Amino acid sequence: MHTIQVHDKSFIGFLSHEEILTRIEAMGNQINADYKGKSPLFIAILNGSFMFASDLFKSLNIEAEICFIKLASYKGIKSTGQVTTSIGLDVSLKDRDIILIEDIVDTGKTLHEFLPQLFDQNPSSIRIASLLHKPDALLYPIKVDYLGFEVPNKFLVGYGLDYDGLGRNLKDIYQLKIIE
Ligand code: IMP
Ligand code: MG
Repeated sequence: MHTIQVHDKSFIGFLSHEEILTRIEAMGNQINADYKGKSPLFIAILNGSFMFASDLFKSLNIEAEICFIKLASYKGIKSTGQVTTSIGLDVSLKDRDIILIEDIVDTGKTLHEFLPQLFDQNPSSIRIASLLHKPDALLYPIKVDYLGFEVPNKFLVGYGLDYDGLGRNLKDIYQLKIIE
């Protein structure tokens, strides 16, 4: 597996673009089946989820809408524990079936802080679709309803995920190389 450099760190190939797309197609099929006859509203959490949101949304054949919100809790390769919102929601959630799209659920803090703001608007339902999940890092009771891959507790870049702004354009997902 080949190694790449982003800023000062080395990363090693972890999930190929083909593996990612195959898995997303299966997630889309599951959502198509579960939401048949409904018209869910997808809320993609920027920045990290933009590529996943695009491929997941293209795999749908049901009636569906999408909008975007910007939340962030990461600086460098560590969570700051502070969730900040910089683009708000401009769509009514009342009586809607909501599916949140996340790139990765790590500590769960982002969704834990954001979910009450969504429930306040009385949606019919809220589910979470996340490409990646690090169960060993989870600190908050977040349940991922549609999961791409369970991953070890190591920092990842690529396919939308960044290390201090860089690496989002990589087609594959790479894992931080730990020098023993
Ligand atoms: P949480 O609030 O700790 O669950 O973190 C969620 C957010 O942190 C994700 O949406 C990502 O944007 C970012 N994040 C968590 N783990 C990684 C990683 O391994 N690489 C890049 N970003 C990450
Ligand atoms: Mg994110």
